[in-house]
Amino acid sequence: MRTPASPAPAHVLVLDDEPSLRTLLGFIVQRMGAIPIEAPDAATARQLAAKHTFACALLDKNMPGESGLAFLKWLRVAQPGCNAIVVTAYGNMDAAVEALRLGAFDFLLKPFEVDTLEHRLKLALEQWHMRQERERMQAMLVQADRLASLGVLAAGVVHEVNTPLAYILSNLDWLDEELPSLGKALEKQSGGESRELTALAGRLKAVASTLRDIREGAERVRHIARDVKAFARDSDDESVLVDLREVLDAALKMALVHIRYRARVVRDYREVPMVQANEARLAQVFLNLVVNAAQALPEDGKEHEIRVRLWTGPTGEACAEVTDTGMGIPPEHMPHLFQPFFTTKPSGEGTGLGLFICKSIVESFEGSISVESQPGKGSTFRLSLPPHVRDASTTSALAQLTAVAS
Ligand SMILES: Nc1ncnc2c1ncn2[C@@H]1O[C@H](COP(=O)(O)OP(=O)(O)OP(=O)(O)O)[C@@H](O)[C@H]1O
Ligand SMILES: [Mg+2]
Repeated sequence: MRTPASPAPAHVLVLDDEPSLRTLLGFIVQRMGAIPIEAPDAATARQLAAKHTFACALLDKNMPGESGLAFLKWLRVAQPGCNAIVVTAYGNMDAAVEALRLGAFDFLLKPFEVDTLEHRLKLALEQWHMRQERERMQAMLVQADRLASLGVLAAGVVHEVNTPLAYILSNLDWLDEELPSLGKALEKQSGGESRELTALAGRLKAVASTLRDIREGAERVRHIARDVKAFARDSDDESVLVDLREVLDAALKMALVHIRYRARVVRDYREVPMVQANEARLAQVFLNLVVNAAQALPEDGKEHEIRVRLWTGPTGEACAEVTDTGMGIPPEHMPHLFQPFFTTKPSGEGTGLGLFICKSIVESFEGSISVESQPGKGSTFRLSLPPHVRDASTTSALAQLTAVAS
């Protein structure tokens, strides 16, 4: 599972040749919620560094063989993100200064108070966590930017495709009308007398039928272009009155390739108010929910179902639900679902941004999204959006018009 959204456990290297001191330092590290990785010498520490990324390192300066400072030099190159604290003998300020010069985060003079060590270690860990968080946010921005660029690109491609498609379709329409009448004219001309003309009329019919197939194909391209447009980020990301039935249908159509052969789709659409939102953004929300649902279905040969529901909530809000009979979500994953980059899918299959984006979109329209799940049985993602209310001036103008008209 890749869960960069949840704070990664911090590993702290404890490099000291004295077993009792190592145990004490390890104990303190553990008490601070980090994982101590203990090494009696630099060679062992190097091997451990190949397996773990250290948030911090507590390095004894004086050790037989390679000293803590020599190891620090190596560590700065091998793991530049690791905050090292060098522990040196009291009075050896030169060594402490040298440690800082080599890039140590801090130093500690022996003998030290446990409180002092805890305080310095806390600072080192905090700084490491902050750096991790900054890197995570940067990665997230890059990813979001990439998605936005893709959206703009898709909108452009659809625009380019639509123009030639329009004249392909209108010419096909013309041929569709022209060919049958041409055939009829030929038949009339031959009057059943000329075998040649009758054969020509027959061939024209075959051409007309092929053209109808071509037209069907072109229509499908038009539908796909329209659906993609619903998802593509247009430069004007405006809010309009949206019918959730249409948006949900468009998302289901887009997700067909994921759903087909996996589950049957059950639509349960009740009366639902229109909402003030952006169609493309809402379509993106439903698409992710439906694709997630399809991906959660195990290939166990059983009949599976994705149920989509729309209805009006108790306070008039628009409610929508996507339920699957899939594998469900373990309780320990629930708090992370809407965090960016949380995914249980293999690398390259999921970015873990889907639900994070869903939540951001729904909240941007003053709505909310929640989830319920039973491991082994399935999950339900539910969203609610405020209903569109006609503004007072429109309502009273309409009332006046009605009064005048009656
Ligand atoms: N219907 C579901 N059933 C079971 N688990 C789900 C369901 N929907 C989401 N999840 C879990 O939540 C995680 C996060 O979902 P999210 O949509 O944010 O990302 P993703 O689907 O992994 O990747 P992406 O949407 O970017 O392709 C999923 O990896 C999965 O573990
Ligand atoms: Mg997803």
